[in-house]
Amino acid sequence: MDPTPRIAVLLSGRGSNMEAIARAIQAKRLNARIVAVISNRAEAAGLEIARELGLPAHAMPVRGRAREEYDAALASFLREAGAEWVCLAGYMRLVSRPLLEAFPRRIVNIHPSLLPAFPGLEAQRQALEYGVRYSGCTVHLVDATLDGGPIVAQAVVPVLDADDEAELSRRILEQEHRLYPEALTMLLSGDYELQGRRIKGKKPKPDMAVKPS
Ligand code: GAR
Repeated sequence: MDPTPRIAVLLSGRGSNMEAIARAIQAKRLNARIVAVISNRAEAAGLEIARELGLPAHAMPVRGRAREEYDAALASFLREAGAEWVCLAGYMRLVSRPLLEAFPRRIVNIHPSLLPAFPGLEAQRQALEYGVRYSGCTVHLVDATLDGGPIVAQAVVPVLDADDEAELSRRILEQEHRLYPEALTMLLSGDYELQGRRIKGKKPKPDMAVKPS
């Protein structure tokens, strides 16, 4: 059987992080295969992008189902598709027990802030309103808390005086597109250890290294 790690991507909107993952795979920077792109919103632009990239794209509307019922159906679909990892990429729903249990420690999310600062919606606006001088993005494992699971990787983006929400979001998104495939490379290769909440890569990450004094 093909040993290439099989991933599914869940999204709710634009889909630029899904596209960044797909392009990293095409460019052989990430060893993975996308077996499904799924959206809870049929009109999500990301589904159209996935189809253009030749990826299997599916809408799975919630249709009034309770969260756990929906997530159980999603978990079955993902299993059938052969997914080993689930990547949330702008997936704007909380993930509940049936999905967490189907993919323990194998659901990954990207969030546009330096967690644990500014979880939830409109993280970039929250950062501007708070007045932080640095924000960024975080790739983390998903647990039952909102944006609270163990951190895999972070990238720092300075907040400039001239920034508005759109401009800060744009610069953070640039980093998201670099960081997500990079973090997945580490996770999918298994080159890490999870100790409590800490995820330690077995290979050095030179771009993020702070020189010891
Ligand atoms: C990204 O900025 C992602 O970090 C954010 O939604 C955007 C999706 O963009 N996710 C969250 O806020 C999750 N809490 P995309 O659809 O173009 O990838």
